[in-house]
Amino acid sequence: MNLPYSAIHAKYRLIKKALMNFTIICRQKLNKHLDLSYCNLNKGLKMKALVCEQFGPPESLVIKEVKKPIISKGKLLIKVSACGINFPDTLIIEGLYQFKPEMPFSPGAEVCGIVAEIGEQVTGFKIGDRVVSGVTWGGMAEYALAEPLFTFKVPESIGDEAAAATLMTYGTSMHGLLDRAMLSYSDTLLVLGASGGVGTSAIQIGKAMGSKVIAAASTEEKLTWCKEQGADHLINYETIPDLKNAIKELTNGKGVDVIYDPVGGKFSEPAFRAIARGGRHLVVGFTNGDIPKIPFNLPLLKSASIVGVFWGSFIRNEPENNERNIRSIFNLISKRKLTPKVSKVYPLKEAVKALNAMKNREVLGKIVVKID
Ligand SMILES: NC(=O)c1ccc[n+]([C@@H]2O[C@H](COP(=O)([O-])OP(=O)(O)OC[C@H]3O[C@@H](n4cnc5c(N)ncnc54)[C@H](OP(=O)(O)O)[C@@H]3O)[C@@H](O)[C@H]2O)c1
Repeated sequence: MNLPYSAIHAKYRLIKKALMNFTIICRQKLNKHLDLSYCNLNKGLKMKALVCEQFGPPESLVIKEVKKPIISKGKLLIKVSACGINFPDTLIIEGLYQFKPEMPFSPGAEVCGIVAEIGEQVTGFKIGDRVVSGVTWGGMAEYALAEPLFTFKVPESIGDEAAAATLMTYGTSMHGLLDRAMLSYSDTLLVLGASGGVGTSAIQIGKAMGSKVIAAASTEEKLTWCKEQGADHLINYETIPDLKNAIKELTNGKGVDVIYDPVGGKFSEPAFRAIARGGRHLVVGFTNGDIPKIPFNLPLLKSASIVGVFWGSFIRNEPENNERNIRSIFNLISKRKLTPKVSKVYPLKEAVKALNAMKNREVLGKIVVKID
C-alpha cells in the first residue's frame, strides 16, 4: 500500500510524541524511585527541609528535598532564614502535642524570613518584607506557609536570628504577665524554669516593669544565666529541700504576687502554697511532664487565682491587643530594655542536635536553626 507523504509524516509525529511522553514518564518514575522527586524536571518547585515522616524522637527526622508549599488564599509564603526552637517542637515530632500535623511535615514553630509570595485576599504585606511568623510547624524548611494574623514585620535593628527567637517567648510572656496577671512594679514575680525560652523573657519583662524577680532553675549555670538577665533572687528548685519555705524566706513571709509557671509537675503546688494574698499563678506549660492537680481549697484559703495563659487563642480572639503587645516588644528591644538571648545557632544539618538539646533540658535562653 502506498501512503501519501503527508500521511506518513503525521504518523511519524504521532509516534514521536508517544515516545516523548513515554520518556518523560520513565524519567519521572526513575526520579521518584531515586527519591529525587522530579527535582530535575521541576526545578524551583522543590526545597530542602527537615522532615518528620513518622512520630518519633529527633533521630527519626531526615533532611531531604520535598515539594515547596503552594501559596493559597489568605496565606503568605515565607523564604525562611532562621527558625527559633521551642519546647513544643520536641513534643510535636513525637505526636505528644495538642496539634498533630499530617505526615510528612517539618517541625519548627516560629520563623524569620522574607515574604516570597502573597495569597489572594492578604493585605498589609508586600513581597520582600522581612517578617517573623508563628507557623506552629513547617519552619525548619527553606519555605514556610504563614497566616498573616501570626506574622509581623521586623524592625531593621533586630537581626534574623534574634528575631526568630522573639515572637513565641516574648509574645507569650507579655500576654501572660500584662494581660493575664496584670503585673505591676510593686509585685514580686517568681519565674519557674527561668533560664529557658519563655522563662528568660519573663525575667526580662518583669524587670522592665520594675518588679522584683525571683528566678528558679535546676543548675548553678542556669541560675547564673538568670542573674545575667536581671533576676534579683535565685532558687535552685532541684536542690532546695523545701521550695515553699525558700520563697517565703525571700519575701519575708508574704509570698509572691505572681508565679510564671511553664514547668508544672512537682514544682507548681509548693510554689502556689507560697503565693501572697491576691496572687496570680500563671499556667503556661508543663515541661516537667505531669499536669499538677492543685487542691481546690488552696485558691480559696489564699484569695489567689490560678490563671490560664494561651497565647495562640489570644492572637485569634484579640488580634489588635496582640499587635499592640508585639509592637511594645519590638519597641522595648530597640530601646535595649529587652534583649533576645540566643545561646547557640545550629545549621539545618544539625537540627537534630538542636532538638535533642531542647529535649534534654540543656538550653539556655533560646537556640535557633539557620536555614542555609
Ligand atoms: N501557654 C502558651 O501559650 C505557651 C506559649 C509558648 C510556650 N508554652 C510552653 O512553655 C513551656 C516552656 O517552653 P520553652 O520553649 O520556653 O521551653 P524551654 O526553653 O525548654 O524551658 C523550659 C524549662 O523547663 C524546665 N524543665 C523542668 N523540667 C523539665 C524537663 N523534665 N524537661 C525539660 N525541661 C524541664 C527547664 O529548666 P530547668 O532545667 O531549670 O528546670 C527548662 O529550661 C512549654 O511547655 C511550652 O509548651 C506555652
